[in-house]
Amino acid sequence: MRYSKIVGLGHHVPETVITNEYLSSIMDTNNEWIIERTGIQERRYIDPTKDTVANMAAKATRMALERANLTEKDIEFIVFATITPDYFFPGSGVLLQRELGLESIGALDIRNACSGFIYALSVADQFIKSGMYKTILVVGAEIQSTAIDMTTRGRNTAVIFADGAGAAILQPTDKPGILSTHLHSDGRFAEELYVRDPGSSRPREERQPEQILDTTHFKVVMNGSQVFKHAVVRFMEVINEALTANNMTKDDIDLLIPHQANLRISQFIQQKLQLPDAKVYNNIMRYGNTTAASIPIALSEAWAEGRVKDNDLICLAAFGSGFTWASALIRW
Ligand code: UT7
Repeated sequence: MRYSKIVGLGHHVPETVITNEYLSSIMDTNNEWIIERTGIQERRYIDPTKDTVANMAAKATRMALERANLTEKDIEFIVFATITPDYFFPGSGVLLQRELGLESIGALDIRNACSGFIYALSVADQFIKSGMYKTILVVGAEIQSTAIDMTTRGRNTAVIFADGAGAAILQPTDKPGILSTHLHSDGRFAEELYVRDPGSSRPREERQPEQILDTTHFKVVMNGSQVFKHAVVRFMEVINEALTANNMTKDDIDLLIPHQANLRISQFIQQKLQLPDAKVYNNIMRYGNTTAASIPIALSEAWAEGRVKDNDLICLAAFGSGFTWASALIRW
């Protein structure tokens, strides 16, 4: 039987560190509130004069290739998860293909927000298992800092969201590997966490310059407490679904890497599963919530720290805009 496995991991975060103190100096918030409600101490923002989603993704990719002992030329297909593409269209996949100097390989974009990386991993897993490709690049990358409302009006999202990129290289193997992936959505809650515009259903006459400047364009609208309530339920469901599907229990998990949405959400899941600190990886304290990039950044860092070892059972889980939620169980 043919399975897929992750043979290389990489990540890139921008140099500029944005502290809670800095945010407190430009909007009505404070370090205590941010730490107590989110666990975030600092996050990274790009330099818009030189960074793009695609070039951050390329840096993460090069680290993953080097660790896997591969080169750009080995990549046969790209699956790119982002909700903050450099252009409205085309997607970031083709920009990454260009950035990596690859000729005409396929590139697919995934727009499933915080669950995007697991959705992308699942798509790549199917392509490897079917025999269609032998080396697939899966990326999650986001630039959120350029669109965040950096005034008190936007404080419930401004303190959370940030920039970064993570990459994984998948190849076939005859023993798992990726054991299973589980993908879900519930569009009834689409508007609980969304960006309305530039949406194509908006009538032309509503696209006046003053409306574009002040209202819905790139403005993240989030009903934080509603998202939180659903997140804690769905995270648990989808982790248990993955364990049940593989005849395993929570005790089999060696490392859980939850999407870095909010430290309180991660701690809630950890407590529910009664996992010790050594079995849960969090880095939201340093990077904030990087949406589709959060899991591959965390996985790459955890691997580099020696917390992802051969034969370990790794559980990835995510919840976010859509709502969408997903999990993956991986035998390393
Ligand atoms: O990535 C996946 C999707 N996103 C998430 O999973 C995020 C899920 N939700 C959350 O993380 C939390 O809901 C937040 C961190 C966004 C907010 O925390 P909360 O404990 O749910 O706060 P809240 O929205 O209920 O607001 C409580 C108070 C409000 O003031 P009043 O009405 O009680 O006077 C807010 O106006 O906190 C106020 N507030 C702030 N105060 C200081 C909201 N944002 C801030 C802020 N600084 N940045």
